[in-house]
Amino acid sequence: MKPLRIATAVLVAAAMATPLVSSASATPQHQPPGQSKKDALRAEVPKGFFIGTAVAGGGHHEDQPYPDPFSSDQPYRNVLAKEFNSVSAENQMKWDFLRPEPGVYRFGPADDIVAFAKRNNQVVRGHTLLWHSQNPAWLTEGGYTKAQLKQILRDHIRTVVGRYKGKIQQWDVANEIFDDQGVLRSQDNIWIRELGPGIVADAFRWARQADPKAKLYFNDYNVEGINAKSNAYYALIQDLLAQGVPVDGFSTQGHLSLRYGFPGDLTDNLRRFARLGLETAITEVDVRMDLAPGATPTPEQLAKQAEYYQRMLDGCLSVSSCNSFTIWGFVDKYSWVPVFFPSEGAATIMWDDFSRKPAYHALRDSLKDCYCGRK
Ligand code: G3I
Repeated sequence: MKPLRIATAVLVAAAMATPLVSSASATPQHQPPGQSKKDALRAEVPKGFFIGTAVAGGGHHEDQPYPDPFSSDQPYRNVLAKEFNSVSAENQMKWDFLRPEPGVYRFGPADDIVAFAKRNNQVVRGHTLLWHSQNPAWLTEGGYTKAQLKQILRDHIRTVVGRYKGKIQQWDVANEIFDDQGVLRSQDNIWIRELGPGIVADAFRWARQADPKAKLYFNDYNVEGINAKSNAYYALIQDLLAQGVPVDGFSTQGHLSLRYGFPGDLTDNLRRFARLGLETAITEVDVRMDLAPGATPTPEQLAKQAEYYQRMLDGCLSVSSCNSFTIWGFVDKYSWVPVFFPSEGAATIMWDDFSRKPAYHALRDSLKDCYCGRK
């Protein structure tokens, strides 16, 4: 991050410190959300660039004491429409959500997201078609033969990708297929275990047939830098491209924690995938921090968080193949983080009342000041 930006983040964080924070409230009254259309992240994006968020719903939200955020929280929808020009389905296009029973597709919420995006001039990232997690029990415990499983996956991809043909900018076709050692998940991924690694190439081919224009991605976490896992993707994609498999993109999720350092080599890593002829994207950014339940982050934590967000975005903006930067939710009250990591939290860019954290301003500054040849 540029020194000026660090100074800005620290100053904003300091200005937001204790005097404004009610000790009884977990949502301090900070700078309110902007009123005018121009006062928004999407108003600052360079040409051809997308700033996105996951759309809250399904998954962990179903166990929380609030109604479905996307369909019932109007202030949330207003911010979603105003700030972003790209949206991702957080859970609403995953197998366990879309396919509650064999032969049954629950398309309503995903349709609503796609329609909302169209009304608000936003693109959509589809997430996800082949994953080891969030698969319904009828599928994983159904005792299907290999031939049946292959047909189930092919039908799913044809049906889902086909339904949204022409409406999805990027599909996360295959999600998290390697572990952190760069070993293919050939046990916990039902598709790879039962059908062999070749099923991954089939998934890309079926997706291309169903929507020739959607860009088809591999997506994973802990692949921001050059490491065993991103090396495994690099080798696999090289191999698939040589076989003519339609892979268009490689994306890194970007779930970061202040407990760990900022991942090194981000731009070098993105660039090597670009040299293979791929697009790249950052798809699920959040930056969590140590936080006791009900506690408020310190100004230092907020400044550090802003710096991490900004460095991720700057990394993407500085690599011409990286055209899309998505955060995994924009408001703390709906974040998956405290549900999965009970001693961490405050991972998003807005307080519960949608007022803006230093991280919001850091992202906006980066978009505004982007000397990346895109404007
Ligand atoms: O499946 C069980 C169900 O059997 C059980 O009855 C229910 C009761 O708690 O829990 C169900 O699992 C939930 C699952 O969503 C269902 O869809 C989990 O508790 C819940 O934590 C889970 O949350 C989602 C998570 O993916 C699942 O891995 C989050 O909402 C979602 O934000 C998160 O998103 C993922 C991306 O898709 C991929 N990258 C990582 C990212 C963060 O984990």
